[in-house]
Amino acid sequence: MQISLEKSLVKNLMVHSHYERYRSMGEDIMQSIRDKTCPGNDFLGWVNLPSSLKSEELERINEVAQNLRKISDVVVVVGIGGSYLGARAVIESQKSAFKSDGCEVLYAGHQLSPGYLTELSQYLEGKKWSIIVISKSGTTTEPAIAFRYLRNMLTSRFGETAMKERVVAITDSSKGALRKLADANGLQSFVIPDDVGGRFSVFTPVGLLPIAVAGFDIKQLIQGAKQMEEQVWSDKKNNIALDYAAIRNVLYQNGNTTEVLVNYHHKFHFIAEWWKQLFGESEGKDGKGIFPASVDLTTDLHSMGQYIQDGKRNLFETVVKFENTNAKVEQIGHDDENLDNLNYLEGKSMDFVNKNALEGTMLAHNSGGVPNLMLKIENDGIDNIGGLLYFFMITCAISGLMLQVNPFNQPGVEDYKRNMFALLQKPGFEEKYKELQILRKELNF
Ligand code: PA5
Repeated sequence: MQISLEKSLVKNLMVHSHYERYRSMGEDIMQSIRDKTCPGNDFLGWVNLPSSLKSEELERINEVAQNLRKISDVVVVVGIGGSYLGARAVIESQKSAFKSDGCEVLYAGHQLSPGYLTELSQYLEGKKWSIIVISKSGTTTEPAIAFRYLRNMLTSRFGETAMKERVVAITDSSKGALRKLADANGLQSFVIPDDVGGRFSVFTPVGLLPIAVAGFDIKQLIQGAKQMEEQVWSDKKNNIALDYAAIRNVLYQNGNTTEVLVNYHHKFHFIAEWWKQLFGESEGKDGKGIFPASVDLTTDLHSMGQYIQDGKRNLFETVVKFENTNAKVEQIGHDDENLDNLNYLEGKSMDFVNKNALEGTMLAHNSGGVPNLMLKIENDGIDNIGGLLYFFMITCAISGLMLQVNPFNQPGVEDYKRNMFALLQKPGFEEKYKELQILRKELNF
């Protein structure tokens, strides 16, 4: 088993009778996902993606990636939310913290902050670069603005014909402005399947093309995801997705309404960012949902640690522990003077110290009244990361359905967009603009 769930530091803080109820509800929910009868059943295309991806599809992605790598020092991935975080999560989990493997992957279109694109364009000066632009709807403002800016830059740097070779669009097969733009300009493109929502799309070209461009093995990634798919769909009894989903819901009923995803690995930060989107956007609706937060430890023990140990008791933690790492692990050396008092650690590895910090912290937080689940992962190779992402996606679907929400829509995201378009005076939003003027007056804002 590549991933296991350790529950001993939750059991003393959990109501067990509720666990059995949620566990058996989860079995029915898995059946409804399999039968495609659950709410949001038109967005279940991701469930069997790892086992159904054809090797020709992976070959085509690898071919396009190889070509981009050949002609680029840098590839800019333009996208936001589910059209960006999955790729970044996997890439950052595998790349060196300090250098890229041949072709550097950078990101744009994931915010509107003034100055970002200017700084990016300064960095790109004199380099060979290309763009992967990703948007399922093809109409999202942030990536659309960034793409227009970067496309113009690319065209003036390399010319119209070369621009076409240097842009790959990933979008809907027929709808949206990006599809129109891609077809009108004869850009290379990939399709995001209709029945796969953004935050569930990491195993489509949305995640796979940027990951392959960054130089990582997408076949291994899919292999790990496929193994997890087989594991969770073949064994009802030892089913870590059902266990995790049931425990989350019991804790939520207990008043533990915030889940903190905890890691002790410097390459995990963006997996946590992806996880927050996955659970936040899937569960947070109809006045319900566990609030997903994350910390990078031990760094954040020196900032958020106080709150977790001693603050409001509405938290639980899910700690991710990698048993082994593919990295070269440092040993602590000898110092004759021992002025730093570290000789008691002489000959010990960084991994040894880190794991003791993890165990000591879990025990302390449990004593402070914070239930601590632990996900143990064999190592940090890309296959295990694939398995982990699939595990989180299936757990999220089961857990959201236990909460009785539709985990596959995001109606709340539209509200800010309507207001933003109205304030920007986009044609078609005139009524909303008037409404907002009245509201502003009332609120004195
Ligand atoms: O998960 C989701 O559906 C969202 O986060 C979207 O991925 C995000 O809003 C970007 O949308 P689009 O791909 O249509 O530009």
